[in-house]
Amino acid sequence: MFFPTEKSGRPMSRLLRRGAFIAFEGIDGSGKTTQVRRFAQKLRERQIPVRTTAEPTTGPIGAMIRQSFSGRTEFDDRVIAALFVADRLDHLTNKFDGVFKLVNDGQTVVTDRYYLSSYAYHASEVDIDWIAAANSINTNIIRPDLTIFIDIEPAVALQRITENRLIADRFEVLPRLEAARENYFHAFDLVKGTENIVIVSGEQGEDELADIIWKEAEATMESFNW
Ligand code: TYD
Repeated sequence: MFFPTEKSGRPMSRLLRRGAFIAFEGIDGSGKTTQVRRFAQKLRERQIPVRTTAEPTTGPIGAMIRQSFSGRTEFDDRVIAALFVADRLDHLTNKFDGVFKLVNDGQTVVTDRYYLSSYAYHASEVDIDWIAAANSINTNIIRPDLTIFIDIEPAVALQRITENRLIADRFEVLPRLEAARENYFHAFDLVKGTENIVIVSGEQGEDELADIIWKEAEATMESFNW
């Protein structure tokens, strides 16, 4: 994270004059999208200015990714991996509503997926050193102040997905979900010491989980000038 400094060049006080950047991660069917919404709602109730975002984004590179997921265009898996890195860079830097601009304007940004998704979903197709190097361009711009990982057994996730939708997308077959979960844990080992990651169980009621996430996030939130 780039911390703004006062004109004198001295670091700012303990309370940071920017918004927090909080990432939610988890395999498909983990319930993270619901929890992002609930977490943002809790922030709003406390008058904390908040924006929610997601990857893939709704921007032009995110649109290319979705076209490929829907089968309208076909890209090599390595192209998809690279597109996600580019989409993320646009997510952070675009002048209109990029994360970097928003947090520096004092908004707290809650994102549904960030760079650890690259490890989770592309480590089987591209070299993990490439993933680390390619994503360093993003983490050098901004690291999450907190990452919430919602953990769920892949079989439970798949059951939820099939109950809620008629067709599972390309990532929603059991071996793929299992690989993603394994890759996440491998990534957590790799980034240990550089990231503030909290793992919560997604196999509990929606309300209970929302409360646990809120409690886990409170310590991080206290560092911010709200
Ligand atoms: P998801 O969060 O499931 O979006 P939605 O709620 O719209 O389905 O993300 C869509 C898919 O994108 C998901 O299967 C994981 C995949 N993905 C990657 O393969 N690489 C990435 O870097 C990211 C961010 C997502």
